[in-house]
Amino acid sequence: MRVIQLPNPSRILCFAFYIIFTLLQQATAERELKFVAVVFRHGDRTPIVNFPTDLHKESEWPQGFGQLTKTGMQQLYELGQYVRKRYSNFLNSTYNRKEFYIQSTDYDRTIMSAQSYLSGLFPPTSSQIWNPELLWQPIPVHIVPKATDRRLHFPLSDCPRFDELQNETQTSSEFQSRIQPYMDFLQTMAVNTGLELNHLKILDNFQLWNTYDTLYCEGIHNYSLPVWATKDVVDKMEKLAELSLLSLFGVYKTEEKSRLQGGVLVNIILNSFKQAANSSRERKMEVYSAAV
Ligand SMILES: *[C@@H]1O[C@H](CO)[C@@H](O)[C@H](O)[C@H]1NC(C)=O
Ligand SMILES: *[C@@H]1O[C@H](CO)[C@@H](O)[C@H](O)[C@H]1NC(C)=O
Ligand SMILES: *[C@@H]1O[C@H](CO)[C@@H](O)[C@H](O)[C@H]1NC(C)=O
Ligand SMILES: *[C@@H]1O[C@H](CO)[C@@H](O)[C@H](O)[C@H]1NC(C)=O
Repeated sequence: MRVIQLPNPSRILCFAFYIIFTLLQQATAERELKFVAVVFRHGDRTPIVNFPTDLHKESEWPQGFGQLTKTGMQQLYELGQYVRKRYSNFLNSTYNRKEFYIQSTDYDRTIMSAQSYLSGLFPPTSSQIWNPELLWQPIPVHIVPKATDRRLHFPLSDCPRFDELQNETQTSSEFQSRIQPYMDFLQTMAVNTGLELNHLKILDNFQLWNTYDTLYCEGIHNYSLPVWATKDVVDKMEKLAELSLLSLFGVYKTEEKSRLQGGVLVNIILNSFKQAANSSRERKMEVYSAAV
């Protein structure tokens, strides 16, 4: 199992993660690559929400909140090209539905990311070209509704044990000792953003993460930022945003929490590996445009 860090064109990619698991690596001559599983997150997008004192309205963003931007489309297109090149000796450049499967979560931005990725991975060649002026071909992206998606959606809904562990995390001394140093800062942030302190300091509701993310997106796209959003403040928010991700899986009963969420997808991938070891199966690559 191997994790590959893509050469990131810029920090914009920091929200796009990319993992390739390979069953057998080509490293030694006797070994034969049998199967590849790819998991990625969407590319650059517009903010998910704004906060009460935000300088920008949803209508100022093309297509509104939570949508893949042109930058995001380009990122995923390049990712597709990268994988095409990397696996040129493994994955036929002619699209074959028996060899290839792609699934996305049910969000515009993850579906569009999958589509952009496919444009880079499978531009039609020779007999698959259907319009010489458009080197693109339709390839099905499989989707199940959010409520029933037990593979890719995060958080997995209807997991009472995970909810319980999340609540325990918030009150755990491990977590509290990490958030305490930020209490004054959170109070200031509540005033600045117009959000309620009681909501802001519960990091797993993602209010703080979203606020940081909104400023981050606005900055990247050259939208004006509020005067209080100095580099120092934004850096501190970034630390807290990291802490909110950490509170999901990085502190307190980390193994059990990870198993109940990402563990489900890991299990699916491991089963695909087992099936791939059976050489009668034709599927060579499974791609997941995951998360939210
Ligand atoms: C790739 O696909 C084409 C068309 O189906 C086929 O003729 C060719 O043999 C395949 N190449 C490999 C290396 O499997
Ligand atoms: C977790 O805490 C929230 C807020 O206090 C509460 O509404 C919810 O019922 C709790 N869930 C569990 C599973 O304990
Ligand atoms: C923002 O401004 C910088 C500097 O002028 C420029 O390089 C960059 O392309 C702009 N970004 C966007 C998304 O317009
Ligand atoms: C391999 O695949 C064949 C055909 O799908 C199936 O009958 C067989 O049980 C599989 N073997 C293993 C070990 O999974």
